[in-house]
Amino acid sequence: MSMQEDIRRIREEAAQALADAGSLNDLAQWRVAVLGKKGSLTGLLRGMGQVDPALRPQVGQWINAAREELEGQLARREDALKREARAHQLMEETIDVTEPRPLPRVGTQHPNTMVLDQVLDCFIGLGFEVVEGPQVELDHYNFELLNIPKNHPARDAQDTFYVDDNVVLRTHTSPVQARVMLSRKPPIRIVCPGRVFRADEVDATHSPVFHQIEGLVIDRDITMGDLKGTLDAFAHRLYGADIQTRFRPSFFPFTEPSAEVDLTCFNCRGTGCRVCKGTGWIEVLGSGMVNPKVLEMCGIDPTVYSGFAFGIGLERITMLRYGIPDMRLLFEGDERFLRQFR
Ligand code: PHE
Repeated sequence: MSMQEDIRRIREEAAQALADAGSLNDLAQWRVAVLGKKGSLTGLLRGMGQVDPALRPQVGQWINAAREELEGQLARREDALKREARAHQLMEETIDVTEPRPLPRVGTQHPNTMVLDQVLDCFIGLGFEVVEGPQVELDHYNFELLNIPKNHPARDAQDTFYVDDNVVLRTHTSPVQARVMLSRKPPIRIVCPGRVFRADEVDATHSPVFHQIEGLVIDRDITMGDLKGTLDAFAHRLYGADIQTRFRPSFFPFTEPSAEVDLTCFNCRGTGCRVCKGTGWIEVLGSGMVNPKVLEMCGIDPTVYSGFAFGIGLERITMLRYGIPDMRLLFEGDERFLRQFR
């Protein structure tokens, strides 16, 4: 067999093997088998000794040409295989963004939060500013500045968690009002939402932790008529335009005169039902004209300024709003309950 034919055969076989190679690994093996030290094409060079010296340059050229040709083919095949692999990988990793899948479970706002937002919205609309204060509070702000002196029987009205002689868990958000009166000049128009604490037994209408929204307005010529107008606006906004307010005389150390405020029962609209125990009214908040003594202790001249204050129990109005029969439901965090407010 002539050298020329050997070259042609090896070249054809190698080209065929290259075409058959299905992976980059196959190509690496092919390179060793054909172009490597002991490869078939390299073997031809070693056989040059037997070739007629006159023909050697010619044969050398053929072998080199074959080598160049095969190297070129190898490079092209390698390119093609890499492209294929990449295309395959892209196919495999394709994400179908249109495929329907179950929605992630989303939480829901707590009913207290929803009602709080509505109440604050209402007062912000009336020109009030929202102010917050500390939950662990000095006795001085929680009681003394509000006309509830140490060792006075008025303290009995609120079962207080004492941290020490001078520090309490605030029993209402009124201390925020005292702080604001001390640090600002009238006119003052604020609402103070927040968590409050009382050493009460847990039952359907009591919890040692609950929330209040207290309001305070101080300016020249503020009267009880302003208080009533403000609370009317609040009642209409939250429960509807037909809801009325009813004031009953009451007592709080920090207001004089003081009033408990009832709203028309939102359930029967005043005709009497189970919710209002047949009266047509529901007790919703405490209020009154700020006691001049409180104004004075907080650095505001009671001969120039007057004001009103009110305190709303958030849980109470949330329960009324949604017909929730037991306050504990608002604190237990039971998903089956909370889901219903989505
Ligand atoms: N701070 C009172 C309470 O928690 C509520 C209240 C506020 C009453 C303002 C009158 C005026 O009981």
